[in-house]
Amino acid sequence: MPTYSDDEAAALYEVLNPWGPGDDFYLALVMDATSVLDVGCGTGALLRRARQAGHAGRLCELDPDPAMLAAARRRGDVEWVAGTAASMAFDREFDLAVMTGHAFQVLVGDEELRASLTAIRRALADGGRFGFETRNPLARAWERWNPGNATDVVDPSGRPVRITHEVESVVGDVVTFIETTSDPDGAPLRVDRASLRFLDVEALAGLLAAAGFEVEARYGGWSREPADPASPEIVTLARGAARPPG
Ligand SMILES: C[S@@+](CC[C@H](N)C(=O)[O-])C[C@H]1O[C@@H](n2cnc3c(N)ncnc32)[C@H](O)[C@@H]1O
Repeated sequence: MPTYSDDEAAALYEVLNPWGPGDDFYLALVMDATSVLDVGCGTGALLRRARQAGHAGRLCELDPDPAMLAAARRRGDVEWVAGTAASMAFDREFDLAVMTGHAFQVLVGDEELRASLTAIRRALADGGRFGFETRNPLARAWERWNPGNATDVVDPSGRPVRITHEVESVVGDVVTFIETTSDPDGAPLRVDRASLRFLDVEALAGLLAAAGFEVEARYGGWSREPADPASPEIVTLARGAARPPG
């Protein structure tokens, strides 16, 4: 199979995921915070935009994917760290942490979820906030991830490519799917398999409470509309509960 490199895939990511209402939602939170940690930052569009918009405080990005992080690092005035959420060693350093672009859903295993939330809580100063969104499992977004819904785009090097998705399995709340990047005629260039967890409101609330968070607000979309069973998104703003000193 001809290849499409990790660096090409990272560059294509921003074409496939252009700035949208979700980014505006998070940018407003970032601009109101003095120190911000973007967990699973991808290509780093959010904090890059915040710096361009005049944010003068600490902005830190973290991602375990070297190609994504290499794209994020193009800008020298944002701090970056290679690693997973669970591996973070920050201690009371930020007043806002975010996981955007459904990055939270890549945390699939119970232990990884618990360890990631604990590390995010530890990274926040008391009263610090954690904002993230997950796709509402009741909206069953994965049912639209099929080859009939292919996306044709031109990548940053000017090459036309086609992206298709096919669900491989749905086991409990974990959806595993194949993403194929191909030439426009369908000849595959690259095949990626990924799993995403679709936690419901109750499961999210339980995990957050166990990690020392109180849910401050829950929305069903980017205009801060109330979450209801048909909402496509579960947008959560959680606040770190006070911790004993030490
Ligand atoms: C869907 S992308 C979202 C990127 C970005 N936040 C955005 O809004 O476009 C998910 C990102 O999470 C990263 N990721 C994967 N596993 C992770 C983990 N255990 N901890 C933190 N980030 C992770 C991936 O490398 C990827 O860049």
